[in-house]
Amino acid sequence: MDLGLTGKTALVTGASRGIGLAIAQELAAEGVRVVGAARTITPALEKVAAAAVSVDLSTTEGARGVVESALSELGGIDILVNNVGGGDADRLELAGVLDTDDEQLRNLFDLNLFGVISTTRAALPSLLERGGTVISISSINSRLPAVGPTGYSEAKAALASFSKRLSEEFGPQGLRVNTVSPGPVATDIWHGENGLGAKLAKANGIGHEQFLAAMPAQFNITSGRISTPGEIAALVAFLASERSANTHGADFVVDGGILKIA
Ligand SMILES: NC(=O)c1ccc[n+]([C@@H]2O[C@H](COP(=O)([O-])OP(=O)(O)OC[C@H]3O[C@@H](n4cnc5c(N)ncnc54)[C@H](OP(=O)(O)O)[C@@H]3O)[C@@H](O)[C@H]2O)c1
Repeated sequence: MDLGLTGKTALVTGASRGIGLAIAQELAAEGVRVVGAARTITPALEKVAAAAVSVDLSTTEGARGVVESALSELGGIDILVNNVGGGDADRLELAGVLDTDDEQLRNLFDLNLFGVISTTRAALPSLLERGGTVISISSINSRLPAVGPTGYSEAKAALASFSKRLSEEFGPQGLRVNTVSPGPVATDIWHGENGLGAKLAKANGIGHEQFLAAMPAQFNITSGRISTPGEIAALVAFLASERSANTHGADFVVDGGILKIA
C-alpha cells in the first residue's frame, strides 16, 4: 500500500530506542524527513533522522525547544508523534496509592502528560498550517490501572482525554489527532536489565528470563506473545497517512488481545 508520505516531515519524541526508534525508521522508510528527540542520541537514531535533538522532554522548555529545532530543520511539521513516556525505572517505586510519593506522581505526569501537551501546543501553529496530524502513544494501562507504577496509568488516561479534546477543538480545521494504546511491547521497559520488567521480576522473587517467559500467560495475552515495536510503528505510519484521512479522535489498541471487553 502506498501511504503517500514521501516528502512529509515529522517530529518523533523518545526516538532513540524502542517504539520511538521503530516509528522514526518506519516513517523514514516511507520517505518522511524525521527529526527525532531523546536525552541520549543513539547511532541508530542518527542513522535514520534528518536531525537528532538531545533534550529532556519532561520540561516545558525542553518541549518548546525541540519543536523550534524541528521547525528550523524541517521548515514545518506535518506529523507529530508524541511517543515519549514511561519513566526511568530506577526512579519508580512499584508501590500502591498510599506509599507512592508526590515526587513520583509529578515526574510521571511531567513526562507522560505535561511534556506532551507542551510539545503539541508548540507544534500546533505549523500543524494547522499544513493540515497535519498528531499521534500520541498512550497505553492499555490508561484503561487498566493495575500493573506498573502508580501515576503512569493515570497520566496516560489524561493523555487520552487531552487527545480527544484536541481532536474536537481542531479537527474541524483539518488537524487529525489519534492515540495508539499498546499492551506490552518488546523494548527495554521489559527486556532491559534495569527496566520495569527486571524490577517486577525481582518484586515477585523470580528471575528476569523466567518473568519474560511467563508474561503472555500472566497477562492473559490471546495471541500468546507481546508486541514488537515494528507492529506499533506500522500502525502509526498508517495513521499519519491520508489513507486514514477520516480517522479523528480515535484510540487504537494493539495488545495481542489482553483487553477482554468488546
Ligand atoms: N514498551 C511497552 O510495553 C509499552 C506499552 C504501552 C505503552 N508504551 C509507551 O510507548 C512509549 C515508548 O515506550 P518504549 O517501550 O519504547 O520505551 P523505552 O524503550 O524506554 O524508550 C523511551 C524513549 O523515550 C526517551 N525518553 C525517556 N525519558 C525522556 C525524557 N525525559 N526526555 C526525552 N526523552 C526521553 C528515551 O531516551 P533517553 O532515555 O535517552 O531519553 C527513549 O528514546 C512510551 O510512551 C510508553 O509509555 C510502551
